[in-house]
Amino acid sequence: MTVEVSTVIVGCGDTGVRIAARAVAAGETVLGIVRGEDSAARLRSVGGRSRRIDLDGPVGDLPACRRLVYSAPPARAQATDARMARVLEAMPGVPAHVVYISTSGVYGDCGGDWVDEARPVAPDTDRAKRRVDAERRIMGWARHAVVLRAPGIYGPGRLTLDRVRAGEPVLADRAGGWTNRVHVDDLAGIAWHMATEPPPHAIYNACDGVPTRREAYYDTLAELLGVAAPPRIDWAEARQRFSAMRLSFLAESRRLSNARLLADTRYRLVFPDYRDGILASLRGDPVLAPGY
Ligand SMILES: NC(=O)c1ccc[n+]([C@@H]2O[C@H](COP(=O)([O-])OP(=O)(O)OC[C@H]3O[C@@H](n4cnc5c(N)ncnc54)[C@H](OP(=O)(O)O)[C@@H]3O)[C@@H](O)[C@H]2O)c1
Repeated sequence: MTVEVSTVIVGCGDTGVRIAARAVAAGETVLGIVRGEDSAARLRSVGGRSRRIDLDGPVGDLPACRRLVYSAPPARAQATDARMARVLEAMPGVPAHVVYISTSGVYGDCGGDWVDEARPVAPDTDRAKRRVDAERRIMGWARHAVVLRAPGIYGPGRLTLDRVRAGEPVLADRAGGWTNRVHVDDLAGIAWHMATEPPPHAIYNACDGVPTRREAYYDTLAELLGVAAPPRIDWAEARQRFSAMRLSFLAESRRLSNARLLADTRYRLVFPDYRDGILASLRGDPVLAPGY
């Protein structure tokens, strides 16, 4: 297989463009698959080439590459990840390095337990079932693929500041409500690390290792913004106010361990504590250092 570009990033959005920036800085030629012109322009601004393809339709031929990072979400309202199926079919061969950005939603509700990668998947939602399908699909296609299970991604422009400033209530859920996060630049750094230094395991929780209760996270945001802590509501009121999608996230509680990531790789988190990550996000600090 003749390599035409060094790195292909499928779904080159907020995380993908940061992976692209790292790849370009390392001297790679990068092709990002995106749907819209905004993402294409952002990718070009970091030195990557873009190809606009709607993965819900025919994909056409994709170039041979050394590294494939897959970061596009599955389509809604489907039981499997048909987008990924089309992409893998369109690839001329299996690249030497394959990384898939999945979600920690595949574990389902864990009742607040600590969760490592040995825990069997137990998806509660169709959204998570599609991710399990995608994980199995890409690991079946590339036996050396690395799956990253990411929790809530935060960073500049993705902090729900308006909600906190507007004093929107949060669910009081002292019996559970454990959540996990990863800064978008750390997720990009971890993905790039995995695409360049193959780790010993196939699956990694890609998170900061500091789970908090949801309430504590919003209280921290409010404190750093200098506004009042959000009022609490109970489940009955939450069911009235929140969308079905939001309620499905609220119904899950787990504490993700990143011990395997830290033990197996040289990657060191730029933001091991979300408080520092929020402060940097509020300042809009650019973070393109590889993180180790
Ligand atoms: N949000 C979270 O907290 C969270 C948590 C865990 C995992 N994840 C997953 O982690 C991955 C990276 O997250 P992110 O926030 O960086 O995602 P993002 O910014 O939304 O980027 C997703 C990319 O996929 C592309 N895409 C979506 N639908 C497409 C289609 N039909 N055809 C072609 N391209 C399509 C988008 O292209 P356009 O921008 O051009 O439309 C974009 O480049 C995603 O798969 C996301 O679902 C997210």
